[in-house]
Amino acid sequence: MGGNFYKLSMNDVPLRGKTVLVRADYNVPLTKDGEVDDDYRIRMSVPTIQRLLDQGCRIVVVSHLGRPDGKKDERYTLEPAAKRLAELLKQPVRFIDDCVGHKVYMAVKRAPKSSVTVLENLRFYPGEEANDMEFARQLAKQTRADYFVQDGFGVVHRAHASTSAITAFLPSVAGLLLEREYMTITSAMKRPKRPLVAVMGGAKVSDKIGVIERMVDVADGIVLGGALANTMLAHNGARMGKSKIEPGQDEVIERIYAKARHKLGTTNYDTLLLLPDDLGVGTSLEPSATRRDVGARAVGNDDYALDIGPQATTHMLAVIETAATVIWNGTLGMCEIPAFRAASEALAATLAEGRATSIIGGGDTADFVLHWDKQAGKSFTHVSTGGGASLELMSGLTLPGIECLLPGKK
Ligand code: 3PG
Repeated sequence: MGGNFYKLSMNDVPLRGKTVLVRADYNVPLTKDGEVDDDYRIRMSVPTIQRLLDQGCRIVVVSHLGRPDGKKDERYTLEPAAKRLAELLKQPVRFIDDCVGHKVYMAVKRAPKSSVTVLENLRFYPGEEANDMEFARQLAKQTRADYFVQDGFGVVHRAHASTSAITAFLPSVAGLLLEREYMTITSAMKRPKRPLVAVMGGAKVSDKIGVIERMVDVADGIVLGGALANTMLAHNGARMGKSKIEPGQDEVIERIYAKARHKLGTTNYDTLLLLPDDLGVGTSLEPSATRRDVGARAVGNDDYALDIGPQATTHMLAVIETAATVIWNGTLGMCEIPAFRAASEALAATLAEGRATSIIGGGDTADFVLHWDKQAGKSFTHVSTGGGASLELMSGLTLPGIECLLPGKK
């Protein structure tokens, strides 16, 4: 991999026997029955936790799950994640149904060495997303932590209390997963093998659309699918029926086109920005929904665009086959519905069979390729636990949750 991580890592500080507050990203999909549906992020946190257990630490794990908006909401409890962690560690994990307060204080006080306690969802408190100092101070004090280990790579693009403010109260270092993700992604992006193609899709439009602007500088080709493509098609005047689009993105889209014009010296954007020329549409969002393929300008009033179409898929694969590096973030269609997985499956197969370096990120995308891949993700160069975080890092941004960790040794 080469090069040193620019922050202190947990291997650089004397953690033996200490109480360690670990920020993980257990924002994982749950089944209707509240079980963990995909445990990739939990599994990837195990080496850090195991290393701390081996050093006799009292470990307190904190995370968010979903977006409960600062209110307690049982649908977003971290209890199932704690249960899954216990299974993976093959040792008991105590779950406390709060993340600050007396209950937490007493639980950690009584916790023996080499133990793991998982606290309830941080986003049940408004102070978490507000990056509130007082909330962070309580978290540090009531968990009685000596050190803070940031290992939630997926959330370090957010400046929240448990990723930013907390570092004002505790000596803060990187966990093993964070360091590995950072080093793998930045070394692949430093001098990427070219052509470099970015495939971007998924549902979180406002999170990602700004990254496209940066990607115009970084990538040799950008393929768009999902709600990102819907939003850009709508901006360009296409009627999108009932499809998911995010209004209010016109300014950033104009900036993307302006940058692309500047880079290409022409308004023939297709060589850089590939929008789908056809779409797979359906009239329902039920798992049994059926598919029609229509031109991108022929979406009906009752249609939802739920995948890129076969023609767009052929164009995309032609671009991918020439690429030496492919970064993929966000599925191209609504993969929860079987009829709308075609483009994402075709892309996964091309990447798995091809020789390009492939870096895949995004909760849903990682979930999709891990289910698809018979080799548990090994068919790709790197399957990141981060969504927005990996995309921002790939586009050259610094991430607030990494910036605030203690500086590494020169
Ligand atoms: C993610 O899934 O990308 C991270 O857990 C961050 O979640 P958020 O987008 O709700 O902040």
